[in-house]
Amino acid sequence: MRLALSAITEELRRLKASGVDSVVVSEEGLSALRKSVASSPRAAPLSASEDVPAEKPAAPARAPKAAPRPEAPPAAPVPVVSLPPGDKKSRWAALERMVLEDPVCRAKLRPGKKVVLGVGNLDASLMFIGEAPGAEEEVQGEPFVGPAGQLLNRMIAGMALSRADVYIGNIMNWRPDLPTGPDGVQTGNRPPTDAEMAHCLPYLKAQIEIVAPSLIVALGATAAKGLLGPKSFGALGEVRGRWHDFGGRPLMVTYHPSYILRNPTNRTKRMIWEDLLKVMERAKLPITDKQRGFFL
Ligand code: URA
Repeated sequence: MRLALSAITEELRRLKASGVDSVVVSEEGLSALRKSVASSPRAAPLSASEDVPAEKPAAPARAPKAAPRPEAPPAAPVPVVSLPPGDKKSRWAALERMVLEDPVCRAKLRPGKKVVLGVGNLDASLMFIGEAPGAEEEVQGEPFVGPAGQLLNRMIAGMALSRADVYIGNIMNWRPDLPTGPDGVQTGNRPPTDAEMAHCLPYLKAQIEIVAPSLIVALGATAAKGLLGPKSFGALGEVRGRWHDFGGRPLMVTYHPSYILRNPTNRTKRMIWEDLLKVMERAKLPITDKQRGFFL
């Protein structure tokens, strides 16, 4: 129960960090939460060291036997990616094989769904990085092919580029799971946990090594946290619209296209566009007056 409660707490922190300031909880859900908090063994010792009494008891006393606690599943080792020498295409193909054979990635897939690796031009000077595959992406095995992908395509087109000019990747190689109904269909998405991100990050780093882009654009808080570190900032506003460094490469942080889909105001569209104008300037791409005055 403690684990479930800390998972809920972590999820709420993530939502808050990504700009969500309220969530709707049903009366039923609220009463279930109250019950779990009331029954949570808050006074139970957390570790062996907490069993040590502050003062030595006067008479020799036997330490009470701790009730056996269920063991946490061992954390899967973070993959160590060693790319073979060769050209970009063969190195990428080798990486794809590693991801497809990764037992954790495979275990995370529901039947019929696909592991998703980045896509695009291996010689791209611009790389976009999102969060994780969603419903459409896990079916097609390609990042950003759903509604957020349509908007990303428009953003790229606004820069007078096409999808074939850039490389598009994600922090995650699989869709973070949520409980499904009896039909096994997942509705909705959740941000990945720190452990899930840590597992996939070596694969993203390997893609960055292969493509060697001049500039990286992180789309949204999860991508930014994956690249800058899970504790690097609280709210996205602290880091968005500014240049950062990722392994010696300039990294721009901007909003995730899904955020614009949820908040399609001229203000939010203009904000993301201004970040992209900064990217175009740094990439020395030509910018017309029309593009300067544009918003998505
Ligand atoms: N959102 C992402 O972050 N990545 C995708 O591939 C699709 C939606």
